[in-house]
Amino acid sequence: MKKKIVLIGMMGSGKTTVGKILSKILKLNFIDTDIQIEKKCGIKIKKIFEKYGEHYFRRKEEKIILDILLNKKKTDVIALGGGAFLNKKLRKIILKETISVWLDASTDLIYKRCKKSNERPLLNEKNNNKNLRKIIKDLSKERKPIYSKAKFVVKTNEKPLKVCDKILNCIKNLV
Ligand code: S3P
Repeated sequence: MKKKIVLIGMMGSGKTTVGKILSKILKLNFIDTDIQIEKKCGIKIKKIFEKYGEHYFRRKEEKIILDILLNKKKTDVIALGGGAFLNKKLRKIILKETISVWLDASTDLIYKRCKKSNERPLLNEKNNNKNLRKIIKDLSKERKPIYSKAKFVVKTNEKPLKVCDKILNCIKNLV
């Protein structure tokens, strides 16, 4: 059984886009953890935050991602929600049992990708675009020491296919 590949990083770092392409190249199953959470809960993540709050979301997130990680039947490429790697329990399993790759995106790139979307509660519409850049910068700074624990780091200031190439180059002896 091959190891799962887990893509880690900030919102807008390209985990889903890159993960889909990577899974096709490697002929593996693709899982986006946010989509799984929405499927299991029957509502959008934005609504989960609004109705039940972040703590509730994090509990659901932990449980659903644990199930995915512990499913040994499939080798998956997993696009992990941006905050999930901050969870100690999940991080421990990811670091021990999977190939983890941090997609390291600049504040500018994340800002460009996220400014039009209001689907991300942590960058929500209450924040005007002026402080959105600061929110992204602060969150990235706070999370960087944790994200950097991933086995590999790949800068994402390039086209998704190029980012995939870089990942494939990192993991070539492991898959
Ligand atoms: C979050 C990232 C989101 C989603 C939720 C919280 C975070 O996923 O899980 O809004 O804490 O960074 P993406 O990274 O896929 O946008």
